[in-house]
Amino acid sequence: MIRFLLPVVLALLSPLALADAPARKAPLHDAGIASANAYATDAGMEVLAKGGNAFDAAIAVSATLGLVEPESSGLGGGGFMLLRVAGDGREVFIDARERAPYAATRDMFLDAEGNAVRDRSVNGALAAAIPGLPAGLDHLAKKYGRLPLRESLAPAIRLANEGWRFGPKNAAMLGWRREVLARSPAAAGLFLRDGQVPAEGTLMRNPDYARVLERLAAQGADGFYRGELAGRLVRGVNEAGGIWSERDLAEYRVVEREPLRISHRGYEITTSPAPSSGGVALATMLKVLEGYDYPRLDKAQRSHLLVEAMRRAYRDRALYLGDPDFVQAPVDMLTSDAYAAGLRASIHPAKATPSELLPGIDAQPLRPDTTHFSIVDAEGNMIAVTQTVNLPYGNALVVPGTGFLLNNEMDDFSVKPGVPNAFGLLGDDANAIAPGKRPLSSMTPTFISGHGRTAVLGTPGGSRIITMVMLGLLELMDGQGAQATAAAPRFHHQYLPDVVQAEAGAFTDEEIEALRAMGHVVESSERTWGNMQVVLWHHDSGKVEAGADPRWEGVGKGSASEASVYR
Ligand code: GLY
Repeated sequence: MIRFLLPVVLALLSPLALADAPARKAPLHDAGIASANAYATDAGMEVLAKGGNAFDAAIAVSATLGLVEPESSGLGGGGFMLLRVAGDGREVFIDARERAPYAATRDMFLDAEGNAVRDRSVNGALAAAIPGLPAGLDHLAKKYGRLPLRESLAPAIRLANEGWRFGPKNAAMLGWRREVLARSPAAAGLFLRDGQVPAEGTLMRNPDYARVLERLAAQGADGFYRGELAGRLVRGVNEAGGIWSERDLAEYRVVEREPLRISHRGYEITTSPAPSSGGVALATMLKVLEGYDYPRLDKAQRSHLLVEAMRRAYRDRALYLGDPDFVQAPVDMLTSDAYAAGLRASIHPAKATPSELLPGIDAQPLRPDTTHFSIVDAEGNMIAVTQTVNLPYGNALVVPGTGFLLNNEMDDFSVKPGVPNAFGLLGDDANAIAPGKRPLSSMTPTFISGHGRTAVLGTPGGSRIITMVMLGLLELMDGQGAQATAAAPRFHHQYLPDVVQAEAGAFTDEEIEALRAMGHVVESSERTWGNMQVVLWHHDSGKVEAGADPRWEGVGKGSASEASVYR
């Protein structure tokens, strides 16, 4: 891999427009929640109606998603939470990302010949990092919530006991993971029926999950990370071939980090710092675009520049980024105007730059899963949460009696420099495995404020999360509403493979021809990706609008439209 910074060219940049003043906001009329599942949105609404704030509602949505969308996230996984506290306007990023167990080693997923063994990093006990979500929920409740956990977890506890209906997304993802899941009797008992994917509409009960939530409600994080449940998890993981210890769980801590901030075209964007790679990549891409009058360009020309920005941002992701508690990434440099000017100098206005070709890069990204939800409450508290167990149904392992799947987040490390992970993403030393380290993530919960509106957004989608959030920001800056932003067709480039992947409808035939003429390899297909959830607050009217991605089952509830439920 070539290790050099692209030439840094100092350039005079046009001054940024100022964001519109934050004052002069009408009182909010209502709250808005957009999540990937109707049960979860309803759980959040129920907690708001009980007097909870956005952060209490987030606990309800998160715990319910962990139950009814087990393919995407849950207590066995982790996540990032971006908060803005009404009143003082304080913004904070809660890093509840999983950590590698202390017994993890750099080469733990290599065989005797030094080849990466994908089955071990994505399936079963070794793939599981130490969960962060339970500690994240406890932290959110204690520091930012208004209600006790007992109340914010109540809807999820009730639903786990009474049962929920298996949906089309649960089934589609399970079809893909059924055989691996069948290796774990407790996972098969929870999610399969006679070894098969349950029929849509099947009632799914999970009293074990309810008991774990009750324990969390009664004892806080200690109920998960210490005592009987912790002992059970360690025994269960290790009997299945894992390397967890009670110390791994007892010493897990969430970290509050300073969000990353970007100014662009009169907007203020607040987004995710490392160990998310999203904020740095967004800053790089937006700063590259800043040097062009791109809103006036035709779609093909604008997309060419955007693809070139994506290509360069993902290259830097692979080279430099990792857990900031372990590696000193050159974030200031990567997000600087001077660096962006250097990147622009390397972009030909009408020709694609071929990505550096690395030998052995032939893995196709697997289908990712993760989930995102966005909430604004009537006081103006805002929260964007992206949470995950990594691939659908995580590592497909349930420790008996716990009711939740564990994650396979260890695959988000670079298991070997230059060998792509399940998303086809490359990594290097900065994201190598080390004991207690957090794997680099693409999850990018984000806020954008300006021109009289504030939006809360994010999406699942593995390596594509960052480009989806980027496209979402561009839609919002073009004045689109929440639903149109969530629905807009997507395209993506991640440096390697050197391909522009496009959803049907992202480009016209003429635009594809124009991009190909510039040297881009464009693959357009019927395949879709992501599950974006957007809540948009209009400052002048105080109304809130929620938009849920129509690609899956998301439900947003807000007040800006007569039809308050969007699909
Ligand atoms: N597990 C997906 C991510 O964190 O990017």
